[in-house]
Amino acid sequence: MTDEVASTEGRAAIEDFYTEDRRFPPPEEFRANALVTDRSLYDQADADWQSFWEDQARSLDWFEPWHTVLEWDLPFARWFVGGKLNVSYNCLDRHVAAGRGDRVAYYFEGEPGDRRTITYAELLAEVERFANVLRSLGVERSDRVAIYMPMIPELPVAMLACTRIGAAHSVVFGGFSPDALRDRIEDAQAKVLITADGGWRRGSPVRLKENADAALEGTSSVQHVVVARRVTEIDGKPVPMTPGRDQFWDDLMAAADPSCVAVPLDSEELLYLLYTSGTTARPKGIMHTTGGYLTQAAFTHRYVFDLHPETDVYWCAADIGWVTGHTYIVYGPLANGATSVIYEGTPDYPAKDRWWEIVERYGVTILYCAPTAIRTFMKWGDSYPGSHDLSSLRLLGSVGEPINPEAWMWYQSRIGTGRCPVVDTWWQTETGGIMISPLPGVTTTKPGSATFPLPGIGAEVVDDDGKPVERGGGYLTLTRPWPGMLRGIYGDPERYRATYWSRFEGRYFAGDGAKVDEDGYLWLLGRVDDVMNVSGHRVSTTEVESALVDHSAVAEAAVVGAKDDTTGQAVIAFVTLKSGEAPSEERGEELRRHVATKIGAIARPKTVVFTEELPKTRSGKIMRRLLKDVAEGRDLGDTTTLADAGVVEEIRRLSAANPTEE
Ligand code: WTA
Repeated sequence: MTDEVASTEGRAAIEDFYTEDRRFPPPEEFRANALVTDRSLYDQADADWQSFWEDQARSLDWFEPWHTVLEWDLPFARWFVGGKLNVSYNCLDRHVAAGRGDRVAYYFEGEPGDRRTITYAELLAEVERFANVLRSLGVERSDRVAIYMPMIPELPVAMLACTRIGAAHSVVFGGFSPDALRDRIEDAQAKVLITADGGWRRGSPVRLKENADAALEGTSSVQHVVVARRVTEIDGKPVPMTPGRDQFWDDLMAAADPSCVAVPLDSEELLYLLYTSGTTARPKGIMHTTGGYLTQAAFTHRYVFDLHPETDVYWCAADIGWVTGHTYIVYGPLANGATSVIYEGTPDYPAKDRWWEIVERYGVTILYCAPTAIRTFMKWGDSYPGSHDLSSLRLLGSVGEPINPEAWMWYQSRIGTGRCPVVDTWWQTETGGIMISPLPGVTTTKPGSATFPLPGIGAEVVDDDGKPVERGGGYLTLTRPWPGMLRGIYGDPERYRATYWSRFEGRYFAGDGAKVDEDGYLWLLGRVDDVMNVSGHRVSTTEVESALVDHSAVAEAAVVGAKDDTTGQAVIAFVTLKSGEAPSEERGEELRRHVATKIGAIARPKTVVFTEELPKTRSGKIMRRLLKDVAEGRDLGDTTTLADAGVVEEIRRLSAANPTEE
C-alpha cells in the first residue's frame, strides 16, 4: 500500500459523513434472560485487561496452568505462556466427560436435502478416529495439513483431528482455483491434503478432487490425499484416484483405531494457518495459535451471541473456509458446547426461501451472516422470509463488511420483527475473533454502527499522523495486544511487521477507515488499502491484476473495487490489450473467466473496461483512485498530476458504455 492511496482514500472516507438518529436499546424481553445486562465486564476489563483475559482463559480446561499471562515484544505476542491445553479436548472431551455427550453439536443439512444430526459424543468418536488416520499417514506434531472441502461434517472433523495431535491445518476455501490451492499448499509445505470428490452447489457438483489433482501437479510436499465421498460421481463416474497417494476417507476410517488421547500442547503451539489477501499478489499465511485464540473465540461467541448452550440453536451461515467459519462455526461454538447448524449450499436452492426453511426446521435462535446476504434477501423481497415461522429467532448478527443502515433496519424489522438485538461485529482474519461489537443485553445500537470495542479490546480511530480522533473520521487502529491476535505471517516476520505495525507507531493498523460519532460510537467505513471486499470476502486488487496480466492478450491491468448494492464492492477491471489484440465482448468474457480460473469465482470481475491507456502519475504509478471514481461515477476533481488527463475522460466514456454482468 502506498501512503498516497491510504491518505487520499482516508480523506474521502471522512467526507462520507452520515447522521443516524435511530437508537435501539436492548429489548426488555431479551434483557430478561441475557447473560450480561450491565457494564461489569467492561469495568473489570478497564481495571486490568490482562487479568480480565486470564479470567476468560480459566473458562477453558488446561492440562497445565500458564505462568505468565502475556509476553509482549512489539509486535510479537505470547499469551498464557507456559500453559498447556488441547483445542479438541476443550471442544469435545470435556463436554462428553461432563455428561453432555448426547447434546447435538451439529445439525447438518446438505444442499440436496440430506440431513445428519451429530452429537458431541459422536463428533468426538469421529475426531479420535480421524486423528489416528492422520497419524497413520505420517502426520506429526507441528506438520501442516491442507484441507479443501465442501461444507460437510468431515470438514470440522478434519480440523479438530489436526488439533488433537498438534498438527496445524490450512483450510483453503472450496471456491478457490487449483492455482490458489497450489500456492497455499506450497507456502505451508503441507504434508497431507484432505478433500472430497465434490460438493453440492446450486444442484451441481463442485469438482473439488479434479481441482485438487490439478493443484498437486508440480508440487512435492503432499504425500497423501484423503478423499471424502460426497457427490459419489461426477459426469457419471467416480473420481479418479492416484494409487499410492489417494485414499477414501471412509476406507481409512474403517481401518483406524477408535481411540486417540488429546495431546497436551503449548499455549503458543501453531493451531492453524489461514491465507488472506493483502495489498500484494502473494496471499499471507495468517498464523493463529492455541490458548489465546481459543480464549477469545469462546469468550466472544458466548457474550456477543448471548449463548445459552442448553437451549439455543445457533447458525453461522458463513463458509468454514473463511475465518468466520473457523471461529464461529467450529472453535467458538464447540468450546462453548453449543448446538449449531451447518448448511452446505446456496440460499436460493431449490428456492429463495431455503434459509428461512432451515431457521424454521431447526428452530434457529441465533443467526449470524453477512450484509451481502441480507441485501440479497432484501432484493428478493419479503415474501420468502414471510412464508416461514421465524419466531424462534432471538438474536441476529452481521459480519464481513459495513452493513448499511437500510440493510440493518430490514434485518432488524423483517427478520427479527423488532424483537431481536442486532450485533454488527467487526473483526478480521488477523484478529482471530470479534473485536468491535455491541453486547446485546447492554449496548444501545445504532443501525450501521458496530458500536464499541469489546471488553479487553483497545481500539482507536487516528488521523494521518497517528493522533487519536475524538470525533470524525480516520483510520481504525488497535492499541494493545489481544489473545486471538495473529502471531505473524507464516515464514515472513518482516512482512508481518511492515503490514500491520509500521503505519502508526505502537499500533496495529487494520487497513480500515472508521469514524467516531458524537456519542463515541464507531462506524466502519471499509478498506483504505488495495484490498476489495466482495460479498464479505477479501480480494486483493493486485492479485486480480496479476491474474489478468497473466493472460497472453493483456498488456496492463488496473483493478478497483466499486460500490455495489448487493456485494458491497464489485471487481472492476481496466485492461489495456497488447498491440494487435482487439477488444470485444468475447474477450471481456474470456478475461473474466480467466480470473475465475486463476483465483476463484469470487474474484471474477463484474466488468472489464478495455482502454488504450491507463491513467498514470508522472512517475508512472497507476492512479487507482481515479479509476475508482470513474467506476463509482464520481466527479474526478483535480487531475493535474496525471501524465495525460485526456485518458480519464476516454475511460469514463468507455466505462459508461460498458455493459456489466448481473
Ligand atoms: C471488513 C472477516 C465493517 C473489514 C471477519 C475487515 C467489516 C475485513 C466488518 C476483514 C464489519 C469485517 N463492519 N467492515 N462488521 N467485519 N469487515 O479477514 O474491512 O475476511 O478489515 O474477516 O472485512 O475480512 P476478513
